[in-house]
Amino acid sequence: MSDSFELHLIVPGSLARRTGGTIYDARMVAQLRQQGWQVVIYNLDGRFPDADATARESLGRALAAVPTGARVLIDGLAMGALPDVVRAACDRLQILALVHHPLADETGLSAAERQRFSALERAALAVCEGIIVTSEFTALRMRALGVTSGKVRAVLPGTEPARWAAGPEGDRPPQLLSVGAVTPRKGHDVLVEALSRVRQLPWSCAFVGSLSHDPDHAAAVRDLVAERDLEARIELAGDCDDDVLDAHYHSSSLFVLASHYEGFGMVLREAVARGLPVLSTSGGAIPEAVPTEAAVLVRPGEVQELAEALAALLSGRSGSARRAELAAGARRAAPRLPGWDQAGRAFAEALLELSSVGTDGSPHPGAGDHVESFAADWLALREPVDHRSRAHELTAPLRAMWRQQGWSRIADLGCGTGSNLRYLSPRLASPQEWTLVDHDPELLARVACPDPEPQVTRVRGDLAEHGLAAAEAAHLVTGSALLDLVSESWLCRLVDVCRGASAAAYFALSYDGEFRFSIADQSVGDGDSDGALVLAAVNSHQLGDKGFGAALGPGAGRRAEQLFRRAGYRTWLLPSCWRLAPGDDDLARGLVEGWRQAASEQRPASAGRIDGWAECCQIAIERGEFSVTVRHTDLLALPAAETVRRA
Ligand SMILES: C[S@@+](CC[C@H](N)C(=O)[O-])C[C@H]1O[C@@H](n2cnc3c(N)ncnc32)[C@H](O)[C@@H]1O
Repeated sequence: MSDSFELHLIVPGSLARRTGGTIYDARMVAQLRQQGWQVVIYNLDGRFPDADATARESLGRALAAVPTGARVLIDGLAMGALPDVVRAACDRLQILALVHHPLADETGLSAAERQRFSALERAALAVCEGIIVTSEFTALRMRALGVTSGKVRAVLPGTEPARWAAGPEGDRPPQLLSVGAVTPRKGHDVLVEALSRVRQLPWSCAFVGSLSHDPDHAAAVRDLVAERDLEARIELAGDCDDDVLDAHYHSSSLFVLASHYEGFGMVLREAVARGLPVLSTSGGAIPEAVPTEAAVLVRPGEVQELAEALAALLSGRSGSARRAELAAGARRAAPRLPGWDQAGRAFAEALLELSSVGTDGSPHPGAGDHVESFAADWLALREPVDHRSRAHELTAPLRAMWRQQGWSRIADLGCGTGSNLRYLSPRLASPQEWTLVDHDPELLARVACPDPEPQVTRVRGDLAEHGLAAAEAAHLVTGSALLDLVSESWLCRLVDVCRGASAAAYFALSYDGEFRFSIADQSVGDGDSDGALVLAAVNSHQLGDKGFGAALGPGAGRRAEQLFRRAGYRTWLLPSCWRLAPGDDDLARGLVEGWRQAASEQRPASAGRIDGWAECCQIAIERGEFSVTVRHTDLLALPAAETVRRA
């Protein structure tokens, strides 16, 4: 078996190239390393995806260099056309694929080429244990290539927060920006034609992106610009570094991408992150990548539609008002875009999950054997801190809906000794019928009810196996300190069950990936690096299997919010940070010891440093000179009132 946090990544060419695919790959490598993963990268020579002899030999050599039993992730461009090379290694290695978009979806292929790529890629994917794709759209496309959905995980790219675009200086006309390598798929030719139809309006435009990926096509685009007499207005800027690209975004008024197809379209999200209005197409995953409030989408390849949309966005006052409206939408959407840290956690989870899935999509024997147990004493220690830390304002909208709908039935999942019952019951109107589910009979036996005592049924059950039955009959499904333990697939099932029952969901105190131990306001450790080491190791540990498959860990709250929203729920995700100070000594001691153990398990080679850090913390607790913050989130998700079945 492989080390659980080791990855061998095989990519065509260098990760320094500036294409969406390589930027995604490089970002994920950085994120995994930050989480404590060992990542070994193999750069292949030769031509991809239409592999030549050098490419074939290079892939074979890279696979042969990977140690037996290791987890390998191969970029889809590098393996899609070489199924026999992949098949030859699949008994020895755990092979996963990373597909940015199916090879046959590339623009400009003949029908025969498409068929050939499809057949080759289908054969290559069939021998992989799992496939990571970069959009839900591509996840669906995998089905067309014969891959069962259990073998596919969509891990969407993150977005880097950026400063708001300021537009061009002075009285200059609106500045348009299009970012992407000048290849047929990106539709620059369509954009040039559309721009030539709005030549009477004021604008200038920059095409930023490589001119060397497909030099013939780039030359044809340049010729077209000249033919349409637009050389003074359209700049083919070529590839540029981050600073120059940043300056382009900053001085733009409108982002335009005329792509025929995108496997995701990261540049669109980058534009939204800068508060830029977007004009693009509905090609491939683009509608998934851009928030509707920030974008106008037209059909791909439709010059006249694109020209009309440009005219509407560039004509006088109404054009600037429309741009301002979309820009405001982008600014509202920008803070909600997931960052690369969140994407990196989802990526790690997908790797762990997929390598515990057989080639038929079923779990390997042994996966999920893990049982997470919690001591009653520990739960008792955290209860007062949990209660005082909760986002209390969430109970108001919940209480209002509870009353309005005449609800009474609550399922508390992973109830422990009933902390959540004791917090929530006094805040909701009676009558209340609680079903408390936990797999630990000792904790269930210790459940103590609040006064007045609601009707309580205790159910011993494994949530991973059958515990969701209780949720099916509930008006409110709740849990505390649970979500970070569960896996993506379990969470999806939970959301489905809640939606099916039109039930509200309230999950409190999900760990959010950050804690800090300070002595007299100074973080403990050598320049905080020991604290950072412990934090990173604990966060990696959080992603292990807690009985539900690879745990969502720190990403759970945000992911749950996303899934409930997608299911049509109104959601609130608010911080419920623990703030410990002298007086909370026992809990602080227990926390430090728990972190020490988890971090040392994760990073045995750094156990000495981790022990040193923990010892400093324990001394500070003894002296009463400490403070601890542990970030959590509380999630409330309410179904749309019109979908709720009356009680
Ligand atoms: C961190 S404790 C929280 C307990 C309680 N909700 C609280 O806030 O004090 C997590 C709880 O989930 C339960 N649990 C974990 N995995 C479970 C599973 N697969 N099935 C049922 N219960 C589970 C544990 O026994 C434990 O009581």
